[in-house]
Amino acid sequence: MSTIAIHPIHRAVRFYEAPIGKKAVMAITGVMLVGYVFAHLLGNLQIYSSDAEQINRYAGFLHNPANAAALWAARSVLLLAVALHIIAATQLWLQNRAARPIGYVKKADLPASYAARTMIWSGPIVGAFVIFHVLHLTAGKVLELRELGPNMPDVRYNVITGFSNPWISGFYILAMILLCLHLYHGMWSMFQSLGISHPRYTPLVKKAAAVLAIAVAVGNCSIPIAVLTGLLTY
Ligand code: HEM
Repeated sequence: MSTIAIHPIHRAVRFYEAPIGKKAVMAITGVMLVGYVFAHLLGNLQIYSSDAEQINRYAGFLHNPANAAALWAARSVLLLAVALHIIAATQLWLQNRAARPIGYVKKADLPASYAARTMIWSGPIVGAFVIFHVLHLTAGKVLELRELGPNMPDVRYNVITGFSNPWISGFYILAMILLCLHLYHGMWSMFQSLGISHPRYTPLVKKAAAVLAIAVAVGNCSIPIAVLTGLLTY
């Protein structure tokens, strides 16, 4: 009996075509994006440093021309992860919809949590937030950005003046709440989707996901709230 050797690329394509392949891509890219969100939160929290210049020094380090190659490499990896996450999510949604007989399952029969049901629109809204946010604090297309010198954004001033506008702060806070729901559901359901579930550990994974998602939302929301309440001034 002869066996036909399958080329590794064909095998990868076949794996991706199945729902589990797309879920694996979503999980890997999701972990990368969560990593960025945490690292970014730690960067943002430097705004509370007793040394007012701390966050600007950090931004100056990131924008230093000597670090340009590393910055663009990180940005490219991040963009690729975002693109793959969105493509896999859209294909999975279309595949699930096509496989589901119309009217077979009533909405009320689905044991889905609020966070699970909101995934399909919390994702696009968080995506829209990121576009607005980059236009706001990186590209300076919403408000004019101040610089302390070449490649040295005055991040402290730019963030505080931006958040002095209640509409901008309100939008950030709303986006952070949706990001929290998206992260919570994404982080724990990733294990279920990949078939890693256990009656003893799944509740712990859910709790850990909730703690991490809430920490991101509270940490980030605290900044516009501190500006609006006058606790953080320039
Ligand atoms: C209150 C919350 C946040 C604050 C104060 C904040 C602050 C900033 C600032 C100041 C920059 C420009 C940095 C620079 O020019 O060096 C930036 C860039 C960015 N932020 Fe945020 N951010 C927040 C939340 C988020 C969240 C939740 C995400 C993702 C979901 C995010 C994604 C990004 C991205 C993708 C960039 C562009 C990075 C780059 O240009 O390389 N931010 N943020």
